[in-house]
Amino acid sequence: MTRWVPPLGLRFSLPLLLLLLAAAVIAPVHAYGKLKVGFYRQSCPDAEAIVRRIVTMAVEDDLTVTAPLLRLHFHDCFVRGCDGSVLLNSTKNNIAERDAKPNLTLDAFNVIDAIKEKLEEKCPGTVSCADILAVAARDAVSLATKVVTKGEWSEGGSLYEVETGRRDGRVSSAKEAAEELPDSFDEIQKLIKRFKSKGLGLKDLVVLSGAHALGNSHCPSLEKRLRNFTAEDDMDPTLDKAYAATLKQQCTSPDDNVTEVQMVPGRSTTFDSTYYRLVKENKGLFHSDEALLSNGATKMLVYGYMSSEKRFLKDFGVSMVNMGRADVLAGSEGEIRRTCAVLN
Ligand code: HEM
Ligand SMILES: *[C@@H]1O[C@H](CO)[C@@H](O)[C@H](O)[C@H]1NC(C)=O
Ligand SMILES: *[C@@H]1O[C@H](CO)[C@@H](O)[C@H](O)[C@H]1NC(C)=O
Ligand SMILES: *[C@@H]1O[C@H](CO)[C@@H](O)[C@H](O)[C@H]1NC(C)=O
Ligand SMILES: *[C@@H]1O[C@H](CO)[C@@H](O)[C@H](O)[C@H]1NC(C)=O
Repeated sequence: MTRWVPPLGLRFSLPLLLLLLAAAVIAPVHAYGKLKVGFYRQSCPDAEAIVRRIVTMAVEDDLTVTAPLLRLHFHDCFVRGCDGSVLLNSTKNNIAERDAKPNLTLDAFNVIDAIKEKLEEKCPGTVSCADILAVAARDAVSLATKVVTKGEWSEGGSLYEVETGRRDGRVSSAKEAAEELPDSFDEIQKLIKRFKSKGLGLKDLVVLSGAHALGNSHCPSLEKRLRNFTAEDDMDPTLDKAYAATLKQQCTSPDDNVTEVQMVPGRSTTFDSTYYRLVKENKGLFHSDEALLSNGATKMLVYGYMSSEKRFLKDFGVSMVNMGRADVLAGSEGEIRRTCAVLN
């Protein structure tokens, strides 16, 4: 005698259906819920490959372009959410984010423009500028990570899978950028608060600060630490004295905005966990980097990432995905800009 066994479809689909229904009822509706890995798989199958190709060409031409590409996505997400607003040009009546004080390297804008041009050729009006920033940042940091380029991390050559499906916003404000972006002199409580307002926790703060493994700073971002930190003490006590002397030789005048100082001396185009060792040795470039040691929980995280690069790289991907969800526009919100620098 054979027992009746429900057909495969029925066995799985009923509980699954109930589960999905329950999830739909319980889950709060966030626009980031509409983001997904491979959003353009049908509408523009080559989208991610095109981004990767152009970023790779740019990096082969100039290794230092990875840092501003990564930073652009961060600045985009922290001001009005990841909505491509960081790319908008100022107009007669509006000073845009990109003209706010924290300057962004122009090379990176050119790379984004080149990607957008190619994508508009292939799939007009389909891929948002906000998504281009997210994918380009992922590719830039992947190309700067040795274990990834050596194929020891993932088959696709990526540090993490990036979600897409963002739409572009219609507003960009220099004033908001000045208010929302973390400042290099922020203390830990301020940093925690700023990240929290973007839905990001202590772990995200510490692991994303690891982006300062890449790139350079200009002297004004550290000037106060070197010569004029408080009325009584002219140097930031959280900065190593010998290192301060070296930095003073590089940044000789308070309004030198031409000289570039490497975040991690000698290896500022390699993405790894060296940053955390520097922070522990009081050689982080910014006061905000050293502030991570002034809270028990963030200090523990710094020590953890210092001792495990693998954990750092893994968590970095997770936190980049978290950051990429900040206040996104999705569905029918916003627009898909045809040119990233101007509204449609
Ligand atoms: C925690 C709060 C943060 C503060 C206070 C901060 C501040 C800064 C400052 C002042 C600079 C140098 C600007 C200049 O003088 O040229 C810089 C550079 C940079 N930041 Fe941050 N940042 C923070 C978090 C992040 C995050 C979350 C990322 C990315 C995930 C990031 C990525 C970068 C990169 C890659 C550079 C180098 C850019 C280049 O070489 O062109 N930063 N940051
Ligand atoms: C946006 O501004 C940049 C820098 O001022 C300029 O080179 C570029 O042509 C502008 N783009 C558009 C589409 O107006
Ligand atoms: C900062 O931006 C301003 C205005 O766009 C530009 O004139 C200046 O050269 C930039 N400075 C640096 C150091 O990139
Ligand atoms: C030091 O900082 C004070 C207050 O921020 C400022 O007024 C002063 O001009 C600074 N001095 C120098 C030498 O930069
Ligand atoms: C630095 O920037 C200021 C204003 O942003 C500008 O007036 C000044 O000429 C710049 N200095 C150098 C050395 O480029």
